[in-house]
Amino acid sequence: MATKERVLSGIQPTHESFHLGNYLGAVKQWVELQDTHDAFYCVVDLHALTASPEPQALRRRTLASVAQLIALGLDPEKCTLFIQSHVPAHNQLAWVMECLTGFGEASRMTQFKDKSQKSGADRTVVGLFTYPMLMAADILLYQAHQVPVGEDQRQHIELTRDLATRFNSQYKDTFTIPNGYILKAGAKIYDLQDPTSKMSKSAESQSGIIDLMDAPEVNIKKMKSAVTDTEREIKFDEKNKAGISNLLTIYSALTGQPVSAAENEFAGKGYGDFKAAVAEVVVDYFRPVREKALELLTDPTHLNQILKTGAEKASAVAEKTLADVYDAIGITSRA
Ligand code: TRP
Repeated sequence: MATKERVLSGIQPTHESFHLGNYLGAVKQWVELQDTHDAFYCVVDLHALTASPEPQALRRRTLASVAQLIALGLDPEKCTLFIQSHVPAHNQLAWVMECLTGFGEASRMTQFKDKSQKSGADRTVVGLFTYPMLMAADILLYQAHQVPVGEDQRQHIELTRDLATRFNSQYKDTFTIPNGYILKAGAKIYDLQDPTSKMSKSAESQSGIIDLMDAPEVNIKKMKSAVTDTEREIKFDEKNKAGISNLLTIYSALTGQPVSAAENEFAGKGYGDFKAAVAEVVVDYFRPVREKALELLTDPTHLNQILKTGAEKASAVAEKTLADVYDAIGITSRA
């Protein structure tokens, strides 16, 4: 059997719950890829430090993220699931990447520019500036071929490719050049109250965001209050019917049927009936996920055991790459 291609991806533990957009836009693909690829997935707690979380919150969210990923279908027997900080090679390689990145090059990262412009230079931590180099280290340590990410990470993947190519030609052929596996447009989920903006926790109001860990009643209510339009037709038309199109995308992604089949199913029905049906699909889908995540969180010892195994598997790969990197750049090895 041919060896499987490797994939690596990461998700930040910035909230108590993942939302529908995180699932359909990322984690669902991760679950699929664990069957066909040699998959490494990490909860990037070091990246989350750039938002200066409360220590208790970071600790809780990190474990909660792991529990949710498993509840959503990541199987620690099939993939390597670990916490970024458990493998110190990420920081070690990040420094090497920082010494390979131009100041101007890093200054051109749009995510950094947007975030720092919003908060002002004095309130922007340097970690936000070096964030892409840590991300490059996450990817390159594992010699990943594919990196499943959303469209917003495209520039970071480009930088990672540039740094890998630069290292390989300047020192020694060491890194696999990774490809962005940019998720399909259909995987993009919009805010229920503002269906032209991506579903995101940084939205001003939480009423358009479906949190997987919220009680079903809360989510039914949010789904039924989704913004639609003044027409009556249930038809996919992102330009003129952003709200209805978003609901059709959600319905089709969770039921596994094409959007056209959903359009037919609801032909002639009212928006109220349609929204109620989508709400039901959403809560039925996530009810067992939420229960499973809560159950996993009652046994932290078990979760920690999974994470220990994950960190060991990840370290074995990461340390080999780091040793090759240090050797190539002339770091003296310790006797
Ligand atoms: N920056 C990514 C995001 O916000 C998270 C991330 C960190 C990541 N390291 C990664 C994604 C490595 C893919 C690979 O979505």
